[in-house]
Amino acid sequence: MPEPTSTQPDAPVRELRVPANGLVLLVGVSGSGKSTFAATHFAPSQVVSSDAYRAIVSGDANDQSATADAFELLHHVVDVRLRRGLLTVVDATNVQSSARASLVKVAKANHVLVDAIVLDVPESVAVERNRARTDREHGAHVVARQRGDLRRSLRSIRKEGVRRVHVLTPEDVAGAVVVPERPWNDRGDLHGPFDVVGDVHGCAAELRTLLEKLGWAIDVDAAGSPVGATHPEGRTAVFVGDLVDRGPDTPGVLRLVMGMVDAGTALCVSGNHEAKLVRALRGAKVQVTHGLAESLAQLDDAGEEFRARALAFMDGLISHYVLDDGRLVVVHAGLKEKYHGRTSARVRAFALYGDTTGETDELGLPVRHPWAREYRGTATVVYGHTPTAEPEWVNNTICLDTGVVFGGHLTALRYPEREIVQVAAVREHYPPVRPLAPTVVEREPSTLAIDDVTGTRWLVTERAGRVKIPEENAAAALEVMSRYAVDPRWLVHLPPTMSPAPTSTTPGYLEHPDRAFAEYAEAGVREVVCEEKHMGSRAIAVVTRDEAVAARRFGVADGSTGAVYTRTGRPFFPGPALVDRVRDAVSPLFDDLDTDWLALDCELLPWSAKAIGLIKDQYASVGAAAHAALPAAATTLAAAAARGLDVSDLTARTSRRAENAEAYRTAYAAHVAPTHGLDGVTLAPFQILAVEGRTLAATESHRWHLEKIATLRDPLVTHTRHRFVDLTDDAQRADAVRWWLDLTAAGGEGMVVKPVEPVARVQPGLKVRGREYLRLVYGPDYTDSLDLLRSRSLGRKKSLALREHALGLEALSRFVAGDPLWSVHQLAFGVLALESDAVDPRL
Ligand code: UTP
Ligand code: MG
Repeated sequence: MPEPTSTQPDAPVRELRVPANGLVLLVGVSGSGKSTFAATHFAPSQVVSSDAYRAIVSGDANDQSATADAFELLHHVVDVRLRRGLLTVVDATNVQSSARASLVKVAKANHVLVDAIVLDVPESVAVERNRARTDREHGAHVVARQRGDLRRSLRSIRKEGVRRVHVLTPEDVAGAVVVPERPWNDRGDLHGPFDVVGDVHGCAAELRTLLEKLGWAIDVDAAGSPVGATHPEGRTAVFVGDLVDRGPDTPGVLRLVMGMVDAGTALCVSGNHEAKLVRALRGAKVQVTHGLAESLAQLDDAGEEFRARALAFMDGLISHYVLDDGRLVVVHAGLKEKYHGRTSARVRAFALYGDTTGETDELGLPVRHPWAREYRGTATVVYGHTPTAEPEWVNNTICLDTGVVFGGHLTALRYPEREIVQVAAVREHYPPVRPLAPTVVEREPSTLAIDDVTGTRWLVTERAGRVKIPEENAAAALEVMSRYAVDPRWLVHLPPTMSPAPTSTTPGYLEHPDRAFAEYAEAGVREVVCEEKHMGSRAIAVVTRDEAVAARRFGVADGSTGAVYTRTGRPFFPGPALVDRVRDAVSPLFDDLDTDWLALDCELLPWSAKAIGLIKDQYASVGAAAHAALPAAATTLAAAAARGLDVSDLTARTSRRAENAEAYRTAYAAHVAPTHGLDGVTLAPFQILAVEGRTLAATESHRWHLEKIATLRDPLVTHTRHRFVDLTDDAQRADAVRWWLDLTAAGGEGMVVKPVEPVARVQPGLKVRGREYLRLVYGPDYTDSLDLLRSRSLGRKKSLALREHALGLEALSRFVAGDPLWSVHQLAFGVLALESDAVDPRL
């Protein structure tokens, strides 16, 4: 948007206020200067012109036969832009009311305002200008007809749903300055911190107590009545409306809140009770029910002057505020995302009354659609209106009406802290029509919708910014998830993939610790930990203390108390036995970390416990074939040599292959151990991902994790051998290399090198696999073709590892923060989706 402009600084300035997220119709005959005006006052992308679309659909801006198609396109573009909240200017003659009506309809559908700028130019001027143009060939009669239409329009346009009509004569044009105006409800410039207060309903005493509890200093008048309040830390109060009716002192509440709003220490939105009270005070015939009688009587006693002031205040309340750069919406009865910052009768009705269906229930109360359950917006919506016993977060929304007037509580939410502060009602001031519902939405605590995971989507993470989940990956992940996964409520995390260390150039090695150390040193990491890489199966263990915790914290009420699942979310063993064993083994951590649940990142051992089928099919068959074929070949070659044939090269190669095949068999056999059910199975935890209130994977060092895990003394737990390496110390590096060589010589898979302290945007770990182990990956004879294999490219794998890591941590921290399950699940699901990416599986 260009700065407000005036073409001639000396011309008398005429300010034209237009809606910054709405529609502006330019209205005027051909040659009145619409395109010129648009080009002067608006950015090219804001202007949608009928000429341009005529040209697009026909190749000729003047081709009148293309008009219908051009407008079809134009309407669509206007619709999309308004949906996205962009100021849009229509450059077309717009002199006929039917032409304007269809555009006004598009604006209304998007709940934005429409202003018109009419260029009222004498016919002779327009005709004269057109005569000079090369881009117009129509005659003067066209302008004459348009002029007639315009004259009629000037009489009717204000009744067509156009809010403001700016009529400019040619003299006005020079001094015109366009000023885009944010909607009144857009107070994104206010960043709080806020104390949002729920429905007060005339409970003045409780309001005062609550504000004091929140740290506000109350100002009183000579009579001792509260007339204002300020917060020493400069906080702003925001009232969700329904200040009035039912309670003992509606004037007292209004006096205090009006004082705060006047002084700029509070904002207030309108509730449905204010709207009705306004109508009653204006003398409209309304049913004097739901506590309105109390307000009317109390306001009568408060005197004429106060009543007039209260009426003006309530009448001026708007229906919602968008605050903190769009991150917070305060509204009386709730608001779906597409209405945030929008303006229309429908938006106001939703804001005041909720998503009513028009029906009433058995108690005569309106049936409301549970909009919060379907809310998927990023803005936090704080509202009231529906009295409930407990304020409860539902999909980033919270209802603060806890029925103080019915003897419940008056509730405030501190934002951005998200702390609830409450005071109890002094007494039941008004009998409730029905008992307070336990929560706003009586629902499955963790509904997942298919729309949350299908299709291309961008997930926002703290560590890697926006991560794209392509549609086809999501489809593949959905297949896996829907068929084989554990109850998705347990899937608070899926582990990321891990990149190998950069390819080694050390003779005989494809991977070597030196390169991992160098990579981290270069990234500015000072200390790393080398952890033995267990050859087993990655396992995430989520365990709770008991069924009650599982139900309360995870919403799983089928009697299970946890899950141990693979990196694709599948359970390892059917039934609760493994979960029960894990809980026993890690139980000291519950008290130690002051939590009722734990999520652990582990390796489940032995490999064969999960992979015996794979081992038989892929590894053992290769080993067996080699074992049978190569000695037979050697025998044949020996016989040939005995007959005097020169087969020495082939014999040497065959014998080397036989050795390789033996090494290959040794490599996989090292990871095969008998198990029977859970007998023989162990778990090697290497990180405590999260506990109640803390995302430990994001905050604690690996030293901390390994020390905590070292305190576990249970035969189920296999400890992870490790050593810390100061990368500036060559001797420590060399020691670690020797340690790795010993580990892998003894059949170990290798090690994982990790920065000791958590760092953003650096690989969370690099694996360095042993020379023998890599035979299982690259084939028995891979050591014969190392040069070829060294050309492998790691870029994609590394990028994937970073993105998956960010998603996995984000899922955990959202779960810890109590975010809705669907948003946690979206992220865990995102990891699985990215895993279906086609990267070289040998990396
Ligand atoms: P425009 O091309 O801006 O008019 O000006 P318009 O309203 O958009 O016309 P249509 O509906 O597309 O046909 C017409 C001519 O008048 C000149 C412009 O330079 C252009 O040649 N003009 C415009 C002026 O001379 N003075 C003005 O204030 C505006
Ligand atoms: Mg034009």
